[in-house]
Amino acid sequence: MTQKVNDLIEQAQQQFAQATDAASLENAKARFLGKQGSLTEMMKGLAKLDADAKREEGARINQIKQQIEALLNARRAALAQAQLEARLAAETIDVTLPGRGMGAGGIHPVIRTWQRVEEIFKSIGFDVADGPEIENDWTNFTALNNPENHPARSMQDTFYVDMKDDNGLPLLLRTHTSPMQVRYARMNKPPIKVIAPGRTYRVDSDATHSPMFHQVEGLWIDENISFADLKGVYTDFLRCFFETDDLELRFRPSFFPFTEPSAEIDMMFTSGPNKGRWLEISGSGQVHPDVVRNFGLDPERYIGFAFGSGLERLTMLRYGVNDLRQFFEGDLRFLRQFND
Ligand code: FA5
Ligand code: MG
Repeated sequence: MTQKVNDLIEQAQQQFAQATDAASLENAKARFLGKQGSLTEMMKGLAKLDADAKREEGARINQIKQQIEALLNARRAALAQAQLEARLAAETIDVTLPGRGMGAGGIHPVIRTWQRVEEIFKSIGFDVADGPEIENDWTNFTALNNPENHPARSMQDTFYVDMKDDNGLPLLLRTHTSPMQVRYARMNKPPIKVIAPGRTYRVDSDATHSPMFHQVEGLWIDENISFADLKGVYTDFLRCFFETDDLELRFRPSFFPFTEPSAEIDMMFTSGPNKGRWLEISGSGQVHPDVVRNFGLDPERYIGFAFGSGLERLTMLRYGVNDLRQFFEGDLRFLRQFND
């Protein structure tokens, strides 16, 4: 009998040791302590014994049972510990590693230009206005003396939106900030002195043209604002913006349906790394009487100038960038140069 008991305990120990996870340990437990387990079978054998033997044998079986349960609990604890250790090893965190940190981000060079332009014009008394990037074709073209089917519309290759506005007018992505002249002038009384910076869109792409770009519109309307005022204001603006007097401006005769006379403004540095290279930065002119009428004003009384300048072009010249498309490629190596 003793031999059998020792065997049983040894078997239990072996089988528990072989169980390497909780499920197989429970299976091994059932073979000893379960309904049909070896110990349960021994208990059933008690029925055949007389009272004294039953007491003695019963106590012995209980003792074996306790030993097997102790072995089981020890193995359970060992498995749980092993599992915990494996998990800790797998999920190790090296608290001495430096943190990944949060990138601080920086201001995009074109937005920096936008901010500087606002500051400069505010300092000489201009208001700053903002308007929709999805425009109707009356405000973008017709009100600016650019009638339907007029060939001048094709000067700006337009992204149309497949919808009409509440008045049945075709919608488009504004091709310039000039519709803001109309919106602002119809909502404000002269003297009107405003800039309107923002995004504009055209079917355009090369080293000096991007399909999405930024312009700043300028408009000054009063009873005696002349082309000479435009020259003065714009020259002062550029000197402020580039922080130098070493630049030359060229008002090159041009055509816009909404100004008469019209000029493109080109500029060139007279010293430094960009010396000698002319770049067009703006359209401009004296606001056409028909457009002043569309502002809701009397062209016999009110007169003034407008300009529309490319913010990317100003940024290119300020930082010596050759290809304007780099501004929108999202290459951090390029963008970081403007934020250190
Ligand atoms: C206009 O858009 C006129 N609305 C400007 C104007 C306003 C004239 C008020 C008279 C009175 P233009 O198409 O030339 O004009 O564009 C003006 C400036 O925007 C250009 O000189 C250039 O600096 C910039 N520009 C034009 N197209 C692009 C483009 N695809 N990518 C980047 N900059 C551009
Ligand atoms: Mg132009």
